[in-house]
Amino acid sequence: DWVIKGGILATLSGVLFPVLAYLWPVMGRGLGSDMQEVATVDEIPVGAGKKVILDGSALLLIRTPQEFKAFSAICTHLGCVVDWDGRKREIVCPCHAGVFDLEGRVVSGPPPRPLPSFPVKVMNGKVFIKL
Ligand code: FES
Repeated sequence: DWVIKGGILATLSGVLFPVLAYLWPVMGRGLGSDMQEVATVDEIPVGAGKKVILDGSALLLIRTPQEFKAFSAICTHLGCVVDWDGRKREIVCPCHAGVFDLEGRVVSGPPPRPLPSFPVKVMNGKVFIKL
C-alpha cells in the first residue's frame, strides 16, 4: 500500500514542481536563493548611492540611469569606508583621497586595486545583491 502511495506522491511531485517553478516568478526568472534583498528601488533615486551591510560586509549600492551597481565599500588601500559622490559621479575614499570610477576602477590616489563588484538584480521594485 505504501509503495503505491509513494509512487503517486512521486508522480505528483514530478508534475507539480515544474508547474510551480513556472508560475512563481522569482524562481522562473532565475533569482537564486543566494541573492539577498538590500533595498527598494524607490529609496535610491537615480544618481544616488546607499551603503548597506550584507552578511557583515559593507557595500556601496549606486543607481545609475541604466542600472544598479554594487561594490565593496571597503577601500583597497587601507580599508577605509568609501563614499559615493553623486555630483562628481565618483566613489571617493575620505582617508587618502582615493577615487574610483563607476566601474570600481582606480582613478587616482593610492588604492592599488579596483573595488570588488557584486551582481545586482532588480525585481518587483526590490534590489538584490549576490555576495
Ligand atoms: Fe582609501 Fe587610503 S584607505 S585611499
